[in-house]
Amino acid sequence: MHSFKSLSDRKIHTLFPIVLSSIIILGSVRLILDSFKSNQSNILKVYGKPNGENNNGVHVVVSPEDRLKEGCNVFEGKWVWDNESYPLYQEQSCPYLVKQTTCLKNGRPDSFYQNWRWQPHGCNLPRFDPLKLLDMLRGKRMMFIGDSLQRGQFESMVCLVQSVIPEGKKSLHRIPPMKIFKIEEYDASIEYYWAPFIVESISDHATNHTVHKRMVRLDSIAKHGKHWQGVDILVFESYIWWMHKPLVNATYGLPDDVKEYNVTTAYRLALKTWADWLESNINPLTQKLFFMTMSPTHLWSWEWQPGSDENCFNESYPIQDPSYWGTGSNLEIMELLKQAIAELKIDVTLLNITQLSEYRKDAHTTIYGERKGKLLTKEQRADPKSFADCIHWCLPGVPDIWNQILYAHLLTTFQNLT
Ligand SMILES: *[C@@H]1O[C@H](CO)[C@@H](O)[C@H](O)[C@H]1NC(C)=O
Ligand SMILES: *[C@@H]1O[C@H](CO)[C@@H](O)[C@H](O)[C@H]1NC(C)=O
Ligand SMILES: *[C@@H]1O[C@H](CO)[C@@H](O)[C@H](O)[C@H]1NC(C)=O
Ligand SMILES: *[C@@H]1O[C@H](CO)[C@@H](O)[C@H](O)[C@H]1NC(C)=O
Ligand SMILES: *[C@@H]1O[C@H](CO)[C@@H](O)[C@H](O)[C@H]1NC(C)=O
Ligand SMILES: *[C@@H]1O[C@H](CO)[C@@H](O)[C@H](O)[C@H]1NC(C)=O
Ligand SMILES: *[C@@H]1O[C@H](CO)[C@@H](O)[C@H](O)[C@H]1NC(C)=O
Repeated sequence: MHSFKSLSDRKIHTLFPIVLSSIIILGSVRLILDSFKSNQSNILKVYGKPNGENNNGVHVVVSPEDRLKEGCNVFEGKWVWDNESYPLYQEQSCPYLVKQTTCLKNGRPDSFYQNWRWQPHGCNLPRFDPLKLLDMLRGKRMMFIGDSLQRGQFESMVCLVQSVIPEGKKSLHRIPPMKIFKIEEYDASIEYYWAPFIVESISDHATNHTVHKRMVRLDSIAKHGKHWQGVDILVFESYIWWMHKPLVNATYGLPDDVKEYNVTTAYRLALKTWADWLESNINPLTQKLFFMTMSPTHLWSWEWQPGSDENCFNESYPIQDPSYWGTGSNLEIMELLKQAIAELKIDVTLLNITQLSEYRKDAHTTIYGERKGKLLTKEQRADPKSFADCIHWCLPGVPDIWNQILYAHLLTTFQNLT
């Protein structure tokens, strides 16, 4: 089913609100925790150090196996069982994972979801080498911008590299709405910036936000943008917060003129604001831009198993049908993204991870994640139909593959520079 406008349309529009509001908001527990750990004056400590001489003499060896075969579409392929190479790190060996993603620790009984390799049809993805990634990041900042799904990708990236950095030479700083992972010896950082709509909104507080009350400032981005200036690698993502309801309250033009906008229209206007910001603030010679397409949801099992009425809970294997596409991944929004990027005067690489992730009904956190900042209670776990999270992903897992693809593109860029 490649059309968003289908029988299921109504079901989506009625179900998204419930599922989303229960899952993507963070509760007061998390809020208090975060404000404890955060401390504005930390920002000086994090960036207080002037750049060293690390920038010079960067030498990344790009081997023939690192090269993506020209013309190969890495987004078309299949998942192959590979319990020898995957997972790329162990859940318990990465201290930077938040409770929301540590499914095994939270009680998930099966770990098959960790053992799948993405195999593109026409080529191989390069092996992820953390030292090569660090070499490419030397003296640089890489920032992931978006919602909690993007935070998952940020954490995945941190876990992919952290094991090769000695204790005491790495640190995670929480400076809301940012998280900053510093790698001292490389004078590098991997960062996360909370901006669920990319443009400004009333949901921009890192923890005190709710999808119930959305008010998006479709033409404002400067407050966020000033934190993105000069960042070497920017990776954007924004989707699920838009999809709460078919209409969204927003302003465009007069700051007090709040109107209900069709989400498609609102998304298009927000992308325009984003594109304008990029064109006047980005130096394409020194900054590299990526945009992740939507992360799919698996909220309704009838989509892959007609006649059933469950969700992604208790799913242990990827979907086999190569043409499978869930109704939650809106192709109109996809098209808007494609157009916006095509019209930009600077290069943004679109990483189209939707299809490959669509197959992974088995890889969500289900009842082994968090809800309002807390693990599920025994009673809630007994009712997966109401409480399973089929939006977020366990780690290690699918976001590691997104990062492997990002890594492959960075290698290509480096190869072209030298
Ligand atoms: C923030 O950190 C600074 C320096 O580490 C410390 O002096 C200050 O007391 C901290 N403030 C709060 C509110 O924790
Ligand atoms: C890996 O998978 C194969 C095939 O399913 C199985 O026979 C083997 O025991 C697995 N190895 C490990 C280490 O889990
Ligand atoms: C969260 O934000 C709302 C609206 O901005 C505000 O009224 C409320 O006091 C905030 N809650 C906390 C705990 O800061
Ligand atoms: C929103 O606008 C788009 C494009 O104009 C249209 O295709 C879509 O049906 C509209 N959606 C709603 C819910 O009105
Ligand atoms: C927009 O805001 C008004 C006033 O707060 C509210 O009644 C309405 O439900 C909101 N619309 C949407 C789509 O959230
Ligand atoms: C999960 O699925 C298996 C069959 O695949 C079934 O035997 C088992 O009862 C299910 N578990 C739960 C908790 O629904
Ligand atoms: C992403 O991939 C899907 C599935 O192959 C395709 O339908 C969609 O048009 C692609 N999106 C873009 C922006 O190229």
